[in-house]
Amino acid sequence: MWSLLKNALLTLSPFIPSSLIFSDNPQSASKAYHGPFTDGGAWSEAFENAREVTKHMTIEEKVNLTTAVTGPCQANSGGVTRLNIPGLCFNDGPSGPRYTDFVTQWPSEFTAAASFDRDLVEERARRIGKEFRGKGINVQLGPVTGGPLGRSPYAGRNWEAFTPDPYLSSTLSFLTVKGMQESGLITCAKHYILYEQEPVCVGPLDDEGGRTGCKDVSSEVDDKTMKELYLPSFAETVRAGTGAVMCSYNKINGTAACESDDALNRLLKDELGFKGFDFGATHSTIPSVLNGMDMELPGEYYYGQRLLRAIKKGSITESRLDDMVHRILTPWYAAKQHIYYPKINYQKYDLSDKKEVNGHTWKNEHVDVRGDNAIYARKVAAESTILLKNSGVLPLRSLRRIGVFGTDADYPSTLSGCGPDLFCLVNSKRRYWNGTVTIGGGSGAAYADYIAAPIEAISLRARQNGIRVDHVLQDDSAHYGSMGWIAYQSEICLVFVSLFLVEGWDREHLKLDKKGEDLIKHVEKNCAGEVVVVIHAGGQVIVEDWIDLPKIGAVLFAGYPGQETGNALVDILWGDVNPSAKLPFTMGKSPKDWPTDNIVRKMGKGHYPVSKFAEGLAIDYKWFDKQHIAPRFEFGFGLSYTNFEFSGFDIIERYEKDKDSIQKTNEKYLGQAGLYDTLYVARVNVTNIGKVPGAEVPQLYMSFPESEKEQPPKHMRGYGKKYLEVGQIATFEFPLRKKDLSVWDVKQQLWKIPHGTFTFRVGNSSRSLPLEMDFSIYSSH
Ligand code: NOJ
Repeated sequence: MWSLLKNALLTLSPFIPSSLIFSDNPQSASKAYHGPFTDGGAWSEAFENAREVTKHMTIEEKVNLTTAVTGPCQANSGGVTRLNIPGLCFNDGPSGPRYTDFVTQWPSEFTAAASFDRDLVEERARRIGKEFRGKGINVQLGPVTGGPLGRSPYAGRNWEAFTPDPYLSSTLSFLTVKGMQESGLITCAKHYILYEQEPVCVGPLDDEGGRTGCKDVSSEVDDKTMKELYLPSFAETVRAGTGAVMCSYNKINGTAACESDDALNRLLKDELGFKGFDFGATHSTIPSVLNGMDMELPGEYYYGQRLLRAIKKGSITESRLDDMVHRILTPWYAAKQHIYYPKINYQKYDLSDKKEVNGHTWKNEHVDVRGDNAIYARKVAAESTILLKNSGVLPLRSLRRIGVFGTDADYPSTLSGCGPDLFCLVNSKRRYWNGTVTIGGGSGAAYADYIAAPIEAISLRARQNGIRVDHVLQDDSAHYGSMGWIAYQSEICLVFVSLFLVEGWDREHLKLDKKGEDLIKHVEKNCAGEVVVVIHAGGQVIVEDWIDLPKIGAVLFAGYPGQETGNALVDILWGDVNPSAKLPFTMGKSPKDWPTDNIVRKMGKGHYPVSKFAEGLAIDYKWFDKQHIAPRFEFGFGLSYTNFEFSGFDIIERYEKDKDSIQKTNEKYLGQAGLYDTLYVARVNVTNIGKVPGAEVPQLYMSFPESEKEQPPKHMRGYGKKYLEVGQIATFEFPLRKKDLSVWDVKQQLWKIPHGTFTFRVGNSSRSLPLEMDFSIYSSH
């Protein structure tokens, strides 16, 4: 979290006034840097450029490059003008360029993940990348690729990431980095690593509703869980060539993530062979530098003058400083930003034409970078809307009267006038959004130039069809009288409920905001016809209270769909788009379905909170499977307006060398074939046996041989999506790479395929898997 006080003190200069300098950590002063120095890997030419130019720099210039401060962008690093190296502009975030105008507010990552559509997610990324480039942003602070992964449903930032399933998260992380970097943007995969909850705050709320007495959580995890669950998505971002990685605020087994030699030097840079730079939450100078952090996130100011002093005193070698500079410049050259890159043309927070800060004028040129992205954002949102229940009421057919209920159908009262993080608070104590929820708050937010509110889109569409729309866009019981009256006269009652999540705040319960459950029940009791519930939420909600009530005809989970929310929704409601999205997480029936302690709320003995990842590999559906808990809606579940049949399940041997890796990892493994080489291919046929065209998502799950006692019952290992006309049949292929079949052997410290019988199942959710086959592997490949 940015410290407001520190930000206010910062100047435009990359060097920090000495009055702000705190003493270095003396304990670490004698430690030498042993971490791997970059050699550029596949970016060897870029690395040579970086090495050559670094030779001509003074120590001050090199330090300047490693130090970011707040500027017109969220962070601006220093440049070396005489060598034509500009400072870099860094900006959030994963749902579009934050803090500026004439950009698109995209569906959030976890919403897009529900599409289970690789091409769609890659194209979303490509388009977001171009928007960042158009604003002159060199480094995007995103995507969120596994920190959080989504270990706990209570975590306040899960919606910024894709999914708790490491296979789905890995594939989407790879494509997102690849798509975004295609425009020459540098991505910063975050938050590395084990960032599965927000800091624990034990103080009272301050006058502005802010948190006090906060301490970062220490995540305690074993080697196997780290390798098989939390690291794979980051490995994929390295393979995809991410130029930067952001270390996280939490501790890892007691050490700050950004000072963790184990996480940064050993795992990220050595084992994953990451060649770019680590940028992150700074808590110190010497320990951070020696343990692998290459650039400081502004607002902390431990680099700048303090780093310079440490180099001059010899506490940090100049070769380590050179490595930091090489790591920063190598991806910059590899992205070809040195040849041409648009100039920064906005100023963060402020949408006015210009702003004076510390004698500098920052201009906002209002460059419109949207192109036709609104059309694509609408498509992503519709393809990501999950149909959880349907009595047959959807798609809507001939009707005369619709009633619309809830503030979540309405326009937000102001789009960008709610402060830097768009917190349009109902009151200072509760983070409630005051209109329709399209995105969460904090680093994952992006400003919207407009919101196609559900009430707007529904009214326009209904008018075309001669349908009358009545509405009461309120939530509280004071309006229940008028709601009841409208509901009693409506053939269809559309109830909008939401859950707004904000960085810095984990959830206290798994309910909807603003007593959404009561609103649904009230409308259901009074509605003349059937009720369609639309949920805009950033995570799991418990629906047991109302979902089986007799008039609840349909339930749509639309996640955080971004600015095109209403338009995407009418596409689904009227059947212009047949729903095909699937839940990228499990919805349980009770909070008791999850491990009780998977979010920590108290300080531990060391005066900071400690979270033991005791469930190991079994998170989300793997936990439900292992504990034999029946979920309300399982991972991978989602209905369609048509039906599909699965047939012809088969697995064949087919070797294919890895063609995707932009950078190779150094992960160790047994056998000859590379870890990312394909060894087998699973195939299945899917036929549309219903009455309307639509897309289906066949999913492949794998169980390891019985000898692997620590493994949960099954793991996703493939998925695909195709649009099928009525009666059409399509064959899906799921490549199985060596890593997909391997476990991390803790004793030998390598990946290996366990010998024995694997079971593969295929179907359209993690609990609806009609086709099954055993497959024996007795080779290490
Ligand atoms: C810290 C947040 O954790 C991160 O997600 C964000 O990119 C930076 N602040 C900058 O806003």
